[in-house]
Amino acid sequence: DKGDFDHFMLKEIFEQPKTISDTYRGRIRPNQNDIVLGGLIDVFPKITAANRIIIIGCGTSWHAALVAEYLIEEYARVPVEVEYASEFRYRKPIIHEGDVVIAISQSGETADTLAALKMAKSKGALILGICNVVGSSIARETDAGVYTHAGTEIGVASTKAFTAQVTVLSLLAFKLAKERSEIDQEFYEMLIGEMLAIPEKLETILVGHPYIKTVAEKYKDAVNALYLGRGYLFPVALEGALKLKEISYIHAEGYAAGEMKHGPIALVDDNLPVVVVSAKDSYYEKVVSNIQEVKARKGNIIAVVTEGDNGLRKMADDLFEVPESHPAVAALLTVVPLQLFAYYIAVMRGCDVDQPRNLAKSVTVE
Ligand code: M6R
Repeated sequence: DKGDFDHFMLKEIFEQPKTISDTYRGRIRPNQNDIVLGGLIDVFPKITAANRIIIIGCGTSWHAALVAEYLIEEYARVPVEVEYASEFRYRKPIIHEGDVVIAISQSGETADTLAALKMAKSKGALILGICNVVGSSIARETDAGVYTHAGTEIGVASTKAFTAQVTVLSLLAFKLAKERSEIDQEFYEMLIGEMLAIPEKLETILVGHPYIKTVAEKYKDAVNALYLGRGYLFPVALEGALKLKEISYIHAEGYAAGEMKHGPIALVDDNLPVVVVSAKDSYYEKVVSNIQEVKARKGNIIAVVTEGDNGLRKMADDLFEVPESHPAVAALLTVVPLQLFAYYIAVMRGCDVDQPRNLAKSVTVE
């Protein structure tokens, strides 16, 4: 039931404050001083001792894995590799017994992810799953796992499942960092507090949807679009581009902003919308110079910025503001305006938003 919404996708975007809190509720202790991932309790010593963590997935789930790579390496200091399941399963990867392999899948039925997981299992790795659909094939195949509590996702374009995946992966990264003594209790509790604050901050982004719609109107006839981000916001750029291309059929590419000079800058002209995802993080100045490079070539900048960032206000053609947060959780906020932007553009172009052409909700054949 779509309720008052025109499409399931829009309904699911608006559900995110609730689905994120449903996903962390019960996993953060009431006094907010610890994270407990019930499904992983028995295997947590093995995860803490892992030599390496390999995360596999496809599409949006692969983007969530990239966020986790940055989080786990920065805070828990465990080497992480992220792979497309379709590559991993066929490329004869080196897997050792001390490795932990985490499969991420909303549906829990993606054929490549399931096959990759079985292959890693046969090599003796500990296999974990982060799935949304309870009792799905991937959930059943894994040694242990954590469910995302996003509820049924009907729109083919994944929205609330992505933010739920990032929520679980963030909790895992923070807990692992604490267990490995890489962060102290005070910092751990600060990260937990940042996570708890996300739903309310998301509400303020969602309230701004009419403005996002007016910006979408300006760019709905674009032929191409470029999405740029750095650090935790690089996967958000990839995800924003994927949303736009899958539902509006506009050709969009996501890039690490630092890679722009190595090719994509050749595309920039006065017809190209360039969506820049920024936050007040250590990459901020670098992102500013990327924006200047685009402006010098007359590209149109649509910037996702932290509220009150007046510096970028002057440079960007259009701005989507998000509340300030710690960089470790910024992906959960910055992705939402991009979901709405893609949604409104697709609706204005007359596309079938919930059932885009050629796509299936779960890809059970390779
Ligand atoms: O069910 P899964 O998470 O395994 O699905 C993976 C991809 O097929 C999926 O994320 C796809 O890319 C979505 N349509 C993206 O919106």
